[in-house]
Amino acid sequence: MRKEVVLITGANGEIGHGLISHLAKQGDVGIIALDVQPADPAILHCVDQYIQGDILDHMLLGRIVAEYEIRTIFHLASILSTKAEHNPETAHKVNVEGTLNLLRLAAEQSQWQGRRVKFLYPSSIAVYGLPTLEDKARSGRVREDDWLMPRTMYGCNKLYCEHLGRYYAHHYRQMAADFARQTMVDFRVIRFPGLISAETVPTGGTSDYGPEMLHAAAKGQPYACFVRPDTCLPFMAMPDAVKSLLELEKAPIENLTRLVYNVGSFSLSAQEFREEVLRAFPQAEITYEPHPTRQAIVDSWPADVDDSQARADWGWQPDYDLDKAFNNYLIPAIRERYARPQPSSISPC
Ligand code: SER
Repeated sequence: MRKEVVLITGANGEIGHGLISHLAKQGDVGIIALDVQPADPAILHCVDQYIQGDILDHMLLGRIVAEYEIRTIFHLASILSTKAEHNPETAHKVNVEGTLNLLRLAAEQSQWQGRRVKFLYPSSIAVYGLPTLEDKARSGRVREDDWLMPRTMYGCNKLYCEHLGRYYAHHYRQMAADFARQTMVDFRVIRFPGLISAETVPTGGTSDYGPEMLHAAAKGQPYACFVRPDTCLPFMAMPDAVKSLLELEKAPIENLTRLVYNVGSFSLSAQEFREEVLRAFPQAEITYEPHPTRQAIVDSWPADVDDSQARADWGWQPDYDLDKAFNNYLIPAIRERYARPQPSSISPC
């Protein structure tokens, strides 16, 4: 008998850290972690197997399928928005071809197992593209089907992969004689706002000014924010991001009226972010040096998202509003993190 597991790609990244420590604490399923980077020791002891390898490596994916019975894939690996603009074609390869490989793997597993393998895909507010600041101010809480005109390679990749997943969930092999819906991939998407973790700092994103500002202040380092003070984005504390993935995974399929869901928790401007940080770290040196391209990217993302569909269909409700995110999670956890001898370690599983 092959062991039933969840497969987590991009396991060493920000969401991966939080998700793995949560799943390991629950302890009811094996965890196979895949990442192109060597494992952070902090997650290594939480997983059944850590595989250092590339999602573009077909042979590697084939070996994983041969060994394990996969219940759910959390496909977290991707190149974020700013980094992707430095090499758009490579980003396309990783973000799109990598996702295609995993979808195919999930489709094959579903057919072998005779049941739908779940595929949880984190998408992003980067799929939206508001043409002007007036549109951004006027549109308020953006719904899933509006303003889908991304201006970054990352946003294009995420939007296209949402469609690819829909194809694999509903139409893959539609010409085949044994075409059967009950063994199609069970594809589910969460569009995340900017995420803030007390444990890790994101790399290569464009919402990174928030978490970077906070981590720099906690370390006593000066920080030059790369967007204007009035720049507004939705953000979410990492525990809520992990919670949303696990809740959407658990939701009965018959309750889901769509494949793609916004999730929100709070919105704030860069200036308000700075004020929150200064309340906790009054000595912090935070200045503004807007970067024109990164500013334009953030200006095209919504100031807030409408997550009423997620609330109605699977009971989405964040635990952390702005006040709780900073005072009950970020500030205490970040102080604790930088007081530890090994800053890269996370709480034990
Ligand atoms: N945080 C991502 C980025 O900045 C957006 O989802 O690229």
